[in-house]
Amino acid sequence: MIKRKIILDCDPGHDDAIAIMLAAKSQAIDLLGITVVAGNQTLDKTVVNALNVCQYLNLDIPVYRGCENPMIRDKQIVADDIHGDSGLDGPKFEPLNREVEKQHGVLYIIDTLLKSEGDITVVTTGPMTNLAMAIRLCPEILPKIQEIVLMGGCYQLGNMTPAAEFNVLADGDAAHVVFTCGRKITMVGLDVTRKVLCLPSVMERMAKTQNKASKLFIDLMTFFNKSQNEVFGWAGGPLHDPVTIAYLIDPSVLTTKEMFTQIDIRSEQSYGRTNCDYFNYFKKKPNSNVSIDIDVEKFWDIIEEGIKAYN
Ligand code: BDR
Ligand code: CA
Repeated sequence: MIKRKIILDCDPGHDDAIAIMLAAKSQAIDLLGITVVAGNQTLDKTVVNALNVCQYLNLDIPVYRGCENPMIRDKQIVADDIHGDSGLDGPKFEPLNREVEKQHGVLYIIDTLLKSEGDITVVTTGPMTNLAMAIRLCPEILPKIQEIVLMGGCYQLGNMTPAAEFNVLADGDAAHVVFTCGRKITMVGLDVTRKVLCLPSVMERMAKTQNKASKLFIDLMTFFNKSQNEVFGWAGGPLHDPVTIAYLIDPSVLTTKEMFTQIDIRSEQSYGRTNCDYFNYFKKKPNSNVSIDIDVEKFWDIIEEGIKAYN
């Protein structure tokens, strides 16, 4: 099987950590590098979290430090209500020996894409600052991007405001750059990720495989489920970010619809909204494949297999 080469740009984050875990051992994916951005917590914390996950799972994948602040917005927002003070509360990690790479994450994205044969997919599971900066700094990378698969946005209800989802709200301008870049985009938004709730039955199922990956899954999700319950009242937290990886492992897990999507970067009330033209009112050329449904059972099968890959 030809493995799909990816760069994973993330802000770990509980669900980002599971995305790393799933991508790193999949037979369908070649995880070239992990670039980190501020998001769920400050950059210093999200970098440490990425390194901790790699060290704990024994993953020999380079980790790069990316942008510390959004492109234009003054204030970096974090999601400590969901992910805790460290950004990855729950598991206890050994002292960290792994080090972050010297090269900046944005320059790594540029270099890696320029040297490639146009066969790299960029997956973003955090605010899109790193990718947007790479595109602005070096537009020559654009023809080299095979596909952008991003967790972000929604065409229904947001999770930070009625209009906006966290990753897009945190840096709407970066999302605007990405959605106007002209490359193939698959958008994995809250419309589908809210269907994969990590309910008690899922926890029981994943705990049955007893290895370090299942332990990490349970430690992470125990904290995540509690905070999701406190904030949103869900009986289990939505496993947002790993849906991007599940889609690359088996595209049939998602149903998508081509739409013209614009990011609202102008209004105060709805800043960060992904205006997906579901009914094609604007008659504009679609710029995104927007996820509209997910095969929930297939998704959990992929997660379980991903955990078993660490046996
Ligand atoms: C997104 O926001 C973050 O808190 C999660 O890691 C996910 O990427 C969901 O809105
Ligand atoms: Ca994330």
